[in-house]
Amino acid sequence: MRTRMVAGNWKMNKTLQEGVELANQLKNDVKNPNCEVVIGTPFIHLATVAELVKGSAVKVAAENCADKDKGAYTGEVSAAMVASTGAEYCILGHSERRAYYHEDYEILKNKVELALANGLKVIFCIGEVKEERLENKQNEVVKAQLEGSVFHLSAEQWAQITLAYEPVWAIGTGLTATPEQAQEIHAFIRGLVAEKYGKQVADDTTILYGGSCNEKNAAELFACPDIDGGLIGGASLIAEKFEAIIAAR
Ligand code: PGA
Repeated sequence: MRTRMVAGNWKMNKTLQEGVELANQLKNDVKNPNCEVVIGTPFIHLATVAELVKGSAVKVAAENCADKDKGAYTGEVSAAMVASTGAEYCILGHSERRAYYHEDYEILKNKVELALANGLKVIFCIGEVKEERLENKQNEVVKAQLEGSVFHLSAEQWAQITLAYEPVWAIGTGLTATPEQAQEIHAFIRGLVAEKYGKQVADDTTILYGGSCNEKNAAELFACPDIDGGLIGGASLIAEKFEAIIAAR
């Protein structure tokens, strides 16, 4: 039985004090969720929030880590530093990192390896942009993203990977993929994992949907057989909305 998950991605939102307030509310409200609950916070929140939610149902993720081990890389935050805060997860490959910070397959491959080597679990994001969807190229895009950065991993390493399919045209736009569109590509992705690691591993792989997933459409998306949960941006910033999505899982 694969893990079901609802993960928040706060992106570059909330001061430390606001983040602590939100984490505190989630910790108090989310007692016996039906799924793994993760919040992805900015680096500076990690240590405080991880300490705050320790022992609760809420786990913490970084939204990024460096592609280098350590040393003279001013302003970067290593996977070892992330792990030392008590965070358990690291979100990597988000489309905003790919688009605005030029993270290519090779950089992401290094980040994934460093995150895993430091004991972090990885939520690895893939997904096509609008033009690619219009040209019906979404399948080849996600395949190339997987082959470029994560399909070299051993089966043992793969067990620490959660995938998040996030069509870029749906992120922050209010345009959600239909459950049919999402299910179709999730099944395709699971098929790729099966070809690479075998059916059992594919069955055990958690694949999240992300892109304008909210408290209104979550239940319908999560009802699809290959959608194991969600990676939530905007709606994860408001406790009531995020909690409603968790309840829908
Ligand atoms: P959104 O973001 O829910 O605000 O569309 C999702 C994401 O980028 O992970």
